[in-house]
Amino acid sequence: MTVKGKRILLGLTGGIAAYKAAELARALGRAGCDVRVAMTEAATRFITPVTLQALTGQAVWTDLWDPRVADNMSHIELSRDRDLILVAPASADFMAKAAQGLADDLLTTLVLARRCPLMVAPAMNVEMWDNPATQRNLRTLRADGVVFAGPAAGDQACGETGMGRMLEPAAIVAEVEALFQPKSLAGKRVLVTAGPTEERIDPVRVITNTSSGKMGYAVARAAREAGAEVTLVSGPVALEAPAGVARVSVRSAQQMFDAVKAAVKGSDIFISVAAVADWKVKNSSRQKIKKANGRAPALQFEENPDILAWVAAQKDAPFCVGFAAESEKVEAHARAKRLKKGVPLIAANLAQTAMGADDNALTLYDDRGRHPLGRGPKLDQARKLVAHFAAMLNKAR
Ligand code: CTP
Repeated sequence: MTVKGKRILLGLTGGIAAYKAAELARALGRAGCDVRVAMTEAATRFITPVTLQALTGQAVWTDLWDPRVADNMSHIELSRDRDLILVAPASADFMAKAAQGLADDLLTTLVLARRCPLMVAPAMNVEMWDNPATQRNLRTLRADGVVFAGPAAGDQACGETGMGRMLEPAAIVAEVEALFQPKSLAGKRVLVTAGPTEERIDPVRVITNTSSGKMGYAVARAAREAGAEVTLVSGPVALEAPAGVARVSVRSAQQMFDAVKAAVKGSDIFISVAAVADWKVKNSSRQKIKKANGRAPALQFEENPDILAWVAAQKDAPFCVGFAAESEKVEAHARAKRLKKGVPLIAANLAQTAMGADDNALTLYDDRGRHPLGRGPKLDQARKLVAHFAAMLNKAR
């Protein structure tokens, strides 16, 4: 499910991060959302309504007593047709007012009169964020069902460093997308492996593969969006952990196996996306191997544990989803692998076009047969995969 056509009221409060709200309005518009903007008086000191009006193509609202609304009920009219109110940046003052249910300007009135969800992206100085009053307001708002996007830690406009930076616009859009995904895995615990593994030859050399981790990270994100509590055991990749996902970083297949064994207990679902090396070097060297008169080193290999097969064979095993990256005869190999590993579902793809790429074309194999997902971005493929096994699980109950 995308955010296309979603009607969003973007609220801006006073803060230097208001300049990022211009990019946010644009990004939401590009994602297909219908964006209306309401600004507090303080927000208009940081960025002009004209900027937001030009970016959204809509009149911007700043005043509770706007004569454009015939019955002077703009707070009702503006919030009624919206699917989400998103306040970014949200100041400490806004959080305090929203926590108290105050409604002394247009934005807080819209927030109080809403029927739709409220998402808040805080932006403030680290001391203001850490202040017990703000933390108390945060807890109150969370308990009221308000969804928080950030804040992040980092350098602040005031020169200090710490929590309180507003999330970047792309990350806020990702949070909005997450909010609108069906919560098909609510209450479930999901364990995902991702990325390649690295098998040591000597202290400076490894054997690895071309897995980028993108598919596994997309699966972890999609599972979290669907409401699951997600642990991601990841081989060495250059990706940020998806928001709200607990990552355990490993390098070798053996380390991945140990991390999975430690985390799998209590998991409802195990999704094995990692490109685990089948072999490790049996005679790896403690010291760097030197060139020896043109003689190539003779490496000996021994098989790594098959993590997926081990998990699937456990008593009380979680629902297991395997991946099959094949260079040829995808369907035959995938069907055979599903049976060999003893798992209910395998997602297969052609390794040459999938590994490292941003797009993928998965085909799912289960006891009912073959389900091609079409080609598309890995996150879309991951969301379809999650929807598929969530339906399988729900039917099994
Ligand atoms: N897998 C695993 N542990 C391994 C090898 C593979 O958990 N040591 C998992 C992968 O994460 C994937 C599935 O098993 O979900 C299939 O992996 P793949 O490499 O395609 O298959 P292999 O079992 O290695 O078989 P082959 O190399 O013969 O294709």
